[in-house]
Amino acid sequence: MEYQFYTNHVEETFKLGQKLGQLLYPGCLLTLEGELGAGKTMLTKGIGAGMGVSSIINSPTFTILKQYVGRIPLYHFDAYRLEDSEEDLGFEEMFDGDGVCVIEWPAFIEYMLPTQRLMIKIKKIDDCKREWTLIPIGQKYELLCKELSK
Ligand SMILES: Nc1ncnc2c1ncn2[C@@H]1O[C@H](COP(=O)(O)OP(=O)(O)OP(=O)(O)O)[C@@H](O)[C@H]1O
Ligand SMILES: [Mg+2]
Repeated sequence: MEYQFYTNHVEETFKLGQKLGQLLYPGCLLTLEGELGAGKTMLTKGIGAGMGVSSIINSPTFTILKQYVGRIPLYHFDAYRLEDSEEDLGFEEMFDGDGVCVIEWPAFIEYMLPTQRLMIKIKKIDDCKREWTLIPIGQKYELLCKELSK
């Protein structure tokens, strides 16, 4: 089953992320797909807020991975610059670890990602409007989506 959400403004995206962040727990992994400027990092800012991260979350593009401390750790990945890279980056230990993983541009590291995840696809409707399609893969993510829809 897919779950659809719409946001009409940055703040609404932040709030959606925040609500989602409140529901997350160690071992959760989310992938964010959508064009440049779709709102992947903006949603992650909200997720961080929902997880109790107090520092500012910025795009990790140039560092690939940024780690934040909230209620539990938040690992924010941006694989955009890893295109065609096959080196062992040691990410796997974080994917089923002590925190939450949020991955922008997952296609570039698909080969190392676990199958079970919450896939989030973002469509830019116009400058301010976004369509969010959540596709839970695995029962724990199904439950998460049901909670989020309440
Ligand atoms: N409803 C909305 N939700 C999210 N962002 C929005 C919305 N409306 C406008 N924006 C704008 O879209 C941009 C989203 O930027 P963001 O960095 O989150 O994108 P991204 O998907 O992470 O891009 P990149 O692939 O470059 O990392 C911001 O400039 C934000 O102000
Ligand atoms: Mg980004």
